Amino acid sequence: MNPDARPDARLDARFDPQHETTSTEAVMEAVDLAQNYEVSRGLFSKSATVKAVAGISFRLAPRSTLAVVGESGSGKSTLARMLTLIERPGEGSLRLDDVDVAEADARTLRRYRGEVQMVFQNPFGSLNPRQTIGKAIEEPLLVNTSLSAPERRERALDMMKRVGLRPEHHGRYPHMFSGGQRQRIAIARALVLRPKILVLDEPVSALDVSVRAQVLNLLVELQEQLGVAYVFVSHDLGVVRHMADEVLVMYLGRAVEHGPREAIFDTPLHPYTRALLSATPVADPEAKKERIVLEGELPSPFNPPRGCPFNPRCPLVVERCRVEMPPLASKGAQRVACWVTGGDAA
Ligand SMILES: Nc1ncnc2c1ncn2[C@@H]1O[C@H](COP(=O)(O)OP(=O)(O)OP(=O)(O)O)[C@@H](O)[C@H]1O
Ligand SMILES: [Mg+2]
Repeated sequence: MNPDARPDARLDARFDPQHETTSTEAVMEAVDLAQNYEVSRGLFSKSATVKAVAGISFRLAPRSTLAVVGESGSGKSTLARMLTLIERPGEGSLRLDDVDVAEADARTLRRYRGEVQMVFQNPFGSLNPRQTIGKAIEEPLLVNTSLSAPERRERALDMMKRVGLRPEHHGRYPHMFSGGQRQRIAIARALVLRPKILVLDEPVSALDVSVRAQVLNLLVELQEQLGVAYVFVSHDLGVVRHMADEVLVMYLGRAVEHGPREAIFDTPLHPYTRALLSATPVADPEAKKERIVLEGELPSPFNPPRGCPFNPRCPLVVERCRVEMPPLASKGAQRVACWVTGGDAA
């Protein structure tokens, strides 16, 4: 049979690791993505607006990893839901293959949903306890392709092998697996349609430290084998140190710093990035590190501070920070939103 006649031939072409792409190409481009939520504050109060994500922009190169880092409540999961089209972006554009999916009709959305898949922190929540893991991994193929049952099984077994599961696991149920294995199952299920992009929301945060490293190594291997790009969400900069190509640091829904991994780790510019970094353990015990302790809590998202959102906790705060929001401006290879350490606009 002519392989091109198969309905999923396009998937195979994309899957081919020899399929080269140029460096200027982006598999995803976000411009000023934003999401607001109206939240009711009880019977007698007016509802309030939470700016969960405001003005996030980036380009994701093929086969690369963008790490999105920030404290709890900084808007990482909201961003992840927009990128995977689980939620339509409130504002801004999201381009996949040069098509703006933020405004797309239902048919276009269906087409692109297969290309961006998601892995959650808790894989147990996304696995049906009464479905064998083989069936769970085959399900996206059943819904989205016209592959026959034996072909689906073959694809599932291939993907199981790639993530380190054995063929006899095919007929077993989720509860029979450890946390790390369940995350492998979730990764296999997300990759079986051979998406271009995988959005991982805290994929190793619920795992033991030893298992965590194995799953991170697996993700690196799979990226090399399959050429998939990752958006990797984590509250912990240490987790993304070895696998990120670029790091985007979020604070109260905004990007405060964005740049290549080496730049962010070697010369962090934003005081918030510096504080996050000083909280991650270093491999070299000789390396002296100044520990910056972040004072105060993340401000209420209902009532963010005037000026720079980080100003009430910032060790470098100056008067201007309390009145004017610093723009995200370029400084070398980085972009940073800070009046003191910041870019050319500062
Ligand atoms: N569906 C929703 N309705 C109302 N508010 C929401 C909704 N989803 C998120 N928020 C609010 O938006 C802000 C960002 O939340 P989000 O879950 O995106 O943060 P996060 O960085 O993923 O945090 P965590 O590390 O705890 O997972 C928070 O203030 C949150 O309360
Ligand atoms: Mg989250």
